[in-house]
Amino acid sequence: MKIKKNYIILAIDTSCDETSVAITCDDRILSNVIASQIKVHEKWGGVVPHLARREHEKHIRPTIKEALKKAKIKIEKIDALAITQGPGLAPALEVGIRKIKELAQKFDKPVVAVNHMEGHLLSSLAKNSQGTNNFTKLKAILSFPLLGLLVSGGHTQLVLIEKIGQYKLLGETLDDAAGEAFDKVAKMLDLGYPGGPIVSQLALKGKPIYDLPVPMKNSPGLNFSFSGLKTACLYKIKEQKAKIKNKKQFTADFCASFEKAVIEALTIKLKRAIKKIYPKQIVLGGGVISNLKIRQAVRKTAKEFDLPVFIPYSKKLFTDNAAMIGVTAWYQAKRGSLIKSIEELDRKPNLNF
Ligand code: KG4
Ligand code: ZN
Repeated sequence: MKIKKNYIILAIDTSCDETSVAITCDDRILSNVIASQIKVHEKWGGVVPHLARREHEKHIRPTIKEALKKAKIKIEKIDALAITQGPGLAPALEVGIRKIKELAQKFDKPVVAVNHMEGHLLSSLAKNSQGTNNFTKLKAILSFPLLGLLVSGGHTQLVLIEKIGQYKLLGETLDDAAGEAFDKVAKMLDLGYPGGPIVSQLALKGKPIYDLPVPMKNSPGLNFSFSGLKTACLYKIKEQKAKIKNKKQFTADFCASFEKAVIEALTIKLKRAIKKIYPKQIVLGGGVISNLKIRQAVRKTAKEFDLPVFIPYSKKLFTDNAAMIGVTAWYQAKRGSLIKSIEELDRKPNLNF
């Protein structure tokens, strides 16, 4: 489908615990507003679905208003609306979908339904308002096939990108996601929520002296598993608690040991995926990619195969955000993939590639 140049999209993502609204123009981001609910879920040590719904309901209107204001765009001027359809928490997804339906009817705009994981997968392609991203900075041209490694709180996936819009899931976690394991280990160590940033920060001060199992190290295929590691952490922490003298040092060393096991698990499968599909480039996405050591490990592996690695131009695009949904929706609109009947639009909590 031929769409006009400077195609403006208003995108909403309410898949988990951030209410996010973005305005995009083709693959450029004009605004990307995120209302975080971390404070609300923090005391429960994880996302509470009914509280997530309540918070999304509270924040969605002001977030839309702010995104339009920041982009200096009037809603009448947008060309299409985009919404995360899944995967995610059903009560959270519903809030965004209801709002999009309301806006589509009120302003008579077409709607694009987006897979949240495709959003993470294409987040490295998003450009800033000046048209710059890490591809343009390196004067690199998108070359297929690409290998995507997505590591978030809900997913750990290796995805083959044959071209934009054509994906093959090569492997995924059979149980917990890597981010979830970070969050759970943080909880075991009484460190707070979300655990990933805290664990990775503390790991900098520690040494990986504790022996923890590397998940799925010897199993064939490209799937991941992190629940065994989580259980091993639980036992190890219990066993050590009675003996430790310096709690601060123990926590730092344990975080470093856990992080090392996760990195090894990711690296083994990444290497295997590279050998299987011979990609031309690698793209990374998802909140756990905020972890510097993980990015360094991926770059080291990629270098062995002489492969370039691309990450989103801003850290804000690693974690959940609506800008990646807007950019993905633009690619979809170009393929003519718009919702035909707005009444039929529904959440898909378990949507996959
Ligand atoms: O992509 P995301 O915002 O949400 C999902 O779609 O799941 O990812 C959130 C996850 C959380 O589990 C959080 O603990 C983790 O990303 N995370 C990190 C780091 N920063 C965020 N994990 C490890 N190291 C980090 N620096
Ligand atoms: Zn996400």
